[in-house]
Amino acid sequence: MTEHPAPPPPLFDRVFINDPYPAYAWLREHSPVHRTRLPNGVEAYLVTRHEDVKAVLADPRLSKNAATSFPGWQPGRTGIPGEHRSGIAAHLLNLDPPDHTRLRRLVSKAFTPRRIAEFEPQIRRIADELLDACERTARDGDGTVDLIRGYACPLPVAVILEMLGVPPEDQAIFHDWAFGVVDRGSGRGGVGRSVKRIRGYLRETIHKKRLNPGEDLLTALVRASDDGEHLSEDEAASMAFILLFAGFETTINLIGNGTLALLTHPEQRARLLADPALLDNAVEELLRYDGPVEFATWRFTTEPIDVGGVRIPAGEPVLAVLAAADRDPARFADPDVLDLGRAATGHLALGHGIHFCIGAPLARLEGRIGFERLLARHPGTALAVPAESLRRHSGLIMRGLYELPVRLAPEGP
Ligand code: HEM
Repeated sequence: MTEHPAPPPPLFDRVFINDPYPAYAWLREHSPVHRTRLPNGVEAYLVTRHEDVKAVLADPRLSKNAATSFPGWQPGRTGIPGEHRSGIAAHLLNLDPPDHTRLRRLVSKAFTPRRIAEFEPQIRRIADELLDACERTARDGDGTVDLIRGYACPLPVAVILEMLGVPPEDQAIFHDWAFGVVDRGSGRGGVGRSVKRIRGYLRETIHKKRLNPGEDLLTALVRASDDGEHLSEDEAASMAFILLFAGFETTINLIGNGTLALLTHPEQRARLLADPALLDNAVEELLRYDGPVEFATWRFTTEPIDVGGVRIPAGEPVLAVLAAADRDPARFADPDVLDLGRAATGHLALGHGIHFCIGAPLARLEGRIGFERLLARHPGTALAVPAESLRRHSGLIMRGLYELPVRLAPEGP
């Protein structure tokens, strides 16, 4: 008698949102290229095996530009909040070569690893100031603090604002917007409005920087040139916006998901406390184990392609599931085990191919300092609620927590 696999587990329900990994194991094994209807009604192909995801991310026959490759596509589905209302559709993640190549080269010149390394002392200072504030909140309240709101969220926003050169007196609106995005489940709304204001602000500030240059990233974006070619003020504003957006929720989720993983794996946390030299590797393993970006952004087939033995017709949306690829037993031994000492390189949490995360050096640095400062100051930090009660965002692209209430403790576990 032929054995039939168990029916596919439900995708996108509450159980899946909290822990999608069993469903991804099923998909990798039984339907690695899986056509399904997404919660927004769109039919798309989900690709879940590491080898196939890597191939999809590097395949030039898959386009990122919906305007040319998928005319029926509605704007605002990239996962970028308020994108369609703010006129920022033409950015790196929505473009193909040669436009993508030109813009990416120009921004790489402004956003170099050397420039990012120079920010290490500032990032450490910001992390410490935020932890001071968290300690005050815990002391003045019931002894607990929400690490998402108090630490993971303001850290990347403050860092990128300092890098861009946004003066301190103008930063409040950015923080409001950031909290609005993180809090979107509470129905506060207004994210689209904030996005519009931020874009207007960036455009105006870029114009001022052209006239009055500083030593900051906005000035570098305005000045970046390639064979005499410059970013227009509008392109520079879109670029600043995408750096802000792409580096913000992702880094929150790295610190949020990573801290949760450390708190729920005390033996791994103890290992890291005993051997801080493990930190860089720990960041890679935390990216792999429960990464901030669950699905890569939308791609569309420009011609029929074969992925993992399945023919996908032309003009179809394809989603590469990074979180599934990074738990593939064909690539990582015991993939569901958190092991801060494993060789986690080769994970796809930061993407692959021409759209590989341009902010990866900053993401890694913020993650390293974020975990290091929290552990050094509060090695005995413990969850203030059962892990099962924590709520996760239900958005398609990002994987993150609404809140992470903890008790900070200066002594080790
Ligand atoms: C832990 C934090 C981060 C993670 C996990 C992450 C992940 C990713 C991934 C998976 C992609 C590729 C998406 C795709 O191919 O569909 C990407 C692209 C990108 N990321 Fe990040 N990112 C992080 C932080 C940052 C930061 C801090 C910045 C900048 C400040 C940034 C800027 C970008 C940009 C501009 C792109 C588009 C690159 C292109 O299309 O050429 N990211 N990121």
